[in-house]
Amino acid sequence: MMNLLSMDHLSKEEMMALIDRAIAIKEGNIAPFDKTLYVSNLFFENSTRTKKSFEMAQAKLGIHTIDFEVSTSSVNKGESLYDTCKTMEAIGCDALVIRHPENEYYQQLEGLNIPVINGGDGSGSHPSQCLLDLMTIYEKFGYFEGLKVIIVGDILHSRVAKSNFQALTKLGADVKFVAPQEYREHDLPVEYVDMDQVIDQVDVCMLLRVQLERHLYNHDDIQAEYNKHYGLNMERYLRLKDQAIIMHPAPVNRGVEITDELVEADKSVIFEQMTNGVYMRMSILQTVLSQHLVNTPTIQVVAG
Ligand code: CP
Repeated sequence: MMNLLSMDHLSKEEMMALIDRAIAIKEGNIAPFDKTLYVSNLFFENSTRTKKSFEMAQAKLGIHTIDFEVSTSSVNKGESLYDTCKTMEAIGCDALVIRHPENEYYQQLEGLNIPVINGGDGSGSHPSQCLLDLMTIYEKFGYFEGLKVIIVGDILHSRVAKSNFQALTKLGADVKFVAPQEYREHDLPVEYVDMDQVIDQVDVCMLLRVQLERHLYNHDDIQAEYNKHYGLNMERYLRLKDQAIIMHPAPVNRGVEITDELVEADKSVIFEQMTNGVYMRMSILQTVLSQHLVNTPTIQVVAG
C-alpha cells in the first residue's frame, strides 16, 4: 500500500490489517521508526479533526511535521498542486497528507515519488475517516458480516458516505441509506429506506453532516424540518436496539442531524471516533511509510 487514496483501492485483508494495527497501537504496541521521517499536511479545505489527529499521530510516532498553510504559501501566486507537492518532495518530505476540494485531485500527482494519504477529496473519498469508523465499529461488535447499518443524511455531498458504503459492503455489512430526495446519490447500488421503519432494527446509525458549503441550491425548506424527518431525536433514540451505536464524522450541526442531548448519550460513539482517529492515522502512517521505505533504495556511500 504505497498510497492511501480511496477505499476502492483496499482489499478486505488490507482493511483488517490497518484495523488490527490501530487496535494494537491503542493497546500500547508502538514500534517507532528507526529513521527520522518528515511528513507535511497540505489542507486546501478547512479541517479540525483530520488535520489535528494526523499531527497528533505524527507526534506520537516521532515523525517531524513540516508546517504548510495554504493561505501563506505560493499556491496564492498560482503554483499548481503538482508543483507544490513536487516541491515538498524535493525539500525532503517522506509523505504528504492532502485534503483538496476537487474529486480525485490525486490523479494530477502522477510523477510524485513519495506516498500520498488522502485526507478527503471533494465529495469523493475520505479513507482515513472511513478506516477510523471501521475500527470503532469493529471494537464494538468484533465483526462486520451481517451488521445492519444505515447512513443518514446528505449522501450526495458526502465523501464519508461513499467510502463507508464501499468498505462496509466489501466487509459483508448490510448498508442502506436514508435521505431526502434532494440529497440522494443515484449512482450507487444501494437501497433508500424510511428511517422510522428501520430504526429499531439497525446496529449502526451513521449520521452525516448537512454540507451547506457544497450545496448549489438553497434548501431552507429541508433544513427547517430536517431533524423531524431525518435527524436523530429522543423518540427515535428510544427505539434503537440496546447494543446499537450512533456515529457521526463531525463537525455536528447540533439540533439538525442529532439533538443536542444525544451527542454524548450512552449509545453515541462520536467522541470515541475522534480518539480512534489518532490510532488509525498512526496505523496508516506506519503502513504507508514502511512500504515506502522498503521500496526506496538506500543510497550507498562508497569510500575512496
Ligand atoms: N470528520 C472530519 O473530516 O472532520 P474535519 O473536517 O474537522 O477534519
